[in-house]
Amino acid sequence: MMQFNLLFDIHGKNHAIQNVSARTYKSLDGVWQIIIDPLENGYYNHSLKPRKNGYFKNEKMKNPDDLIEYDFDHNYQLNVPGDWNTQMEKLYYYEGCIWYKRSFDYKEKINGRIFVHFEAVNYECKVYLNGAYLGDHVGGYTPFSFDVTELLQETDNFLIVQVKNTRRREGVPTLNTDWWNYGGITRSVKLLELPDTYIEDYFVRLSSDKDNIITGWVQLNGENLANMVEISIPELGEEIRVETNENGYASFSINSGPELWTPEKPKLYKINLITDFESIEDEIGFKRIEVKGTHILLNGDPIFLKGISIHEEAPFGGGRITSGEQCKILLNWAKEMGCNFVRLAHYPHGEVMVRQAEKMGFLIWSEIPVYWTVLFNNRDTYQNAENQLVDMINRDKNRVGIGLWSVANETPVNGERLSFLRKLISKAKSLDSTRLITAALDSQKGEGDNIIIDDRLGAYVDVIGINNYCGWYSKKPEECGALCWENKFDKPMILSEVGAGALLGLHGAVNERWTEEYQAEVYRHNLEMVERIDFIQGLSPWILMDFRSPRRNLKHIQMDYNRKGLISDTGIKKEAFYVLRKYYMEKGN
Ligand code: GCU
Repeated sequence: MMQFNLLFDIHGKNHAIQNVSARTYKSLDGVWQIIIDPLENGYYNHSLKPRKNGYFKNEKMKNPDDLIEYDFDHNYQLNVPGDWNTQMEKLYYYEGCIWYKRSFDYKEKINGRIFVHFEAVNYECKVYLNGAYLGDHVGGYTPFSFDVTELLQETDNFLIVQVKNTRRREGVPTLNTDWWNYGGITRSVKLLELPDTYIEDYFVRLSSDKDNIITGWVQLNGENLANMVEISIPELGEEIRVETNENGYASFSINSGPELWTPEKPKLYKINLITDFESIEDEIGFKRIEVKGTHILLNGDPIFLKGISIHEEAPFGGGRITSGEQCKILLNWAKEMGCNFVRLAHYPHGEVMVRQAEKMGFLIWSEIPVYWTVLFNNRDTYQNAENQLVDMINRDKNRVGIGLWSVANETPVNGERLSFLRKLISKAKSLDSTRLITAALDSQKGEGDNIIIDDRLGAYVDVIGINNYCGWYSKKPEECGALCWENKFDKPMILSEVGAGALLGLHGAVNERWTEEYQAEVYRHNLEMVERIDFIQGLSPWILMDFRSPRRNLKHIQMDYNRKGLISDTGIKKEAFYVLRKYYMEKGN
C-alpha cells in the first residue's frame, strides 16, 4: 500500500486538505483592496531590511500627526479570483509585488479548526492575518492553506497577501515561457471550517490488479487521531467502517466490481466519508490505465488518445480562467472536435477544470511547469519542482480522469536534466502507481525525413511525449506526410504538440503562412503521418484556442497572441478545427 508523505504539523505549514469544495467554508472571493508596490516598500525599509511594521500590519492613523504612508482602503481594488494583468490596463505587463487585503468578520462560534485555503497564487506569496505572519508559498498553480484558528477575531479581521509574479532564473518555470505571466490571486480563497478531528486526506481507487476490488486509505488530522471512519458507496451498496491508527491512518479494501470509467461512459460514484465529527461527499470513478508494448490500455483495451492541448486561458478576452463556466466552454469545444483526451498545459490547471473534464469523459494529461531551461543543477529549483509535483498529485489523485502525470516540457538533453527528471519520476511513482508517467520531449533530431527518438529520458517514462512542428518550425507542410520515425523504446508515443499558426479570417493559398489554409494544410499532412506510425498512440495538437504570450510580436497578426489555436481568442473556429475534427470522427478507438 503506498504511503503519501503526510504532514502532521498543525500550525503554519502547508496542509494538503483533500476535496476542499465539499467542506464547510466561507468564501473570501470578491473585491479585495490592493497596493501596487514595485519596490516592495511595504516589506523592506530603506536599508533593505524587513520592516517590523510593514503593510501587513494595515496600520491606521490614531493621532493627527501620525505618519502612515500607505492605506489599503483608499486605493485600487482587484477581483479575486483573477489575474491582475487583464483587470487593470496599468497592470497589463506588470511583473512585481502587489499587496492584497480582505477584511471580514467572523462572529460564528469556533467549534474546531479554521484554515485559510488558497487554490493558487502566481507566483509566490507571503500570507498574514491580523498582522501575524502565517507563511510563504512558491509555485503559481497549486493549493495551500494555513491554520488560523487561534488568530481569528470576531470583527475586523484583515487577511493580507503579498503577491509577487517576478520571474526568477531559479524558478519553476524559469525566466522564459511561451505564455503570459498572469500574476495575482488567480484562483479562489476560502475559510475552511473543520472539526478538531478532521478528514485531511484520502485516496480511493481500483486495486492495482483486480477490477473487483476497491482499495484506499484515509488520513485524519487534528486531535483524537485513532477513530472510526465510515466509507460508503451507496450505488454499489457498499459500506465499511475502519479504525484509524494512532497517526490517524487506516487503509481498506472493498470487494466490489464498479462500472469502469471510460470516455464514452464516464461513470462516477458518490462516495461518503463519515466520522463522528463530519461527513464529506466526493465523486469518484474507477479505471485502469497501463501500457503494453507500444499500446496504451484503458481497462485492458487499447485506446487511441484523440486529444488537444489547452492553456488555462479564458475564452473571449483571456486572462486566467476563473469559473467553471469558462472551463465548460473550452471543454465543449474539445468535445465538439471529437476529443477523448486533453493535455492541460503547462502547469496544474484548477481543480474545477479537472473535475469538469473527467465528468465530460476526457482522459487528462496533467503537468508541472518544468518547462524549457529551468536550473537543473539547483537544489532549490528541484525542491520547488518536487513540491509542485507532490501538491498536484495530492490534489488530484482521486480524479479518475487523470491518466498521465507529466514532469517536463521540452527540456534540454543533458545529464543534469536527466538526473533531475529521474528523481521527479521516481517521486511521482512513489506517490501514485496508478497513473502513467510521461514528459513532452523536444523535436527529435534526425536526418532528412527520419526522426530518431533516442532521448535517454525515454527509458524512464511510461509514455513518450514528442513535440514536433513539421510544417511550421521545420520543413514544408507537404513534406510532413512522409516523415519517418525511429522509436528506440518499446513504448507508446503521444505527439504532444503539433500545429501551426493562423490569424482567423486571413485567407490565401496553402503556402501562405498565417492563413487558415496554411494551418489546415499543416494538419492534413501531419495527420497522414500519424496514421502511418503505429507506435503513435495519441496526439494533443497545439492548441485549442489562441492564447496570450509576450513572445509573439508580429503585431498585425499576433497582437500579443500565439495564433496556433484551432479556435480564435474570440471563440471562432478556424478551418483546421474541421480538419482535425474530421480525422477524430473517422478514427476508431
Ligand atoms: C513549444 C512549447 C509551447 C509553445 C509552442 C509554440 O512546443 O511547448 O509552450 O507555445 O511550442 O511555439 O507555439
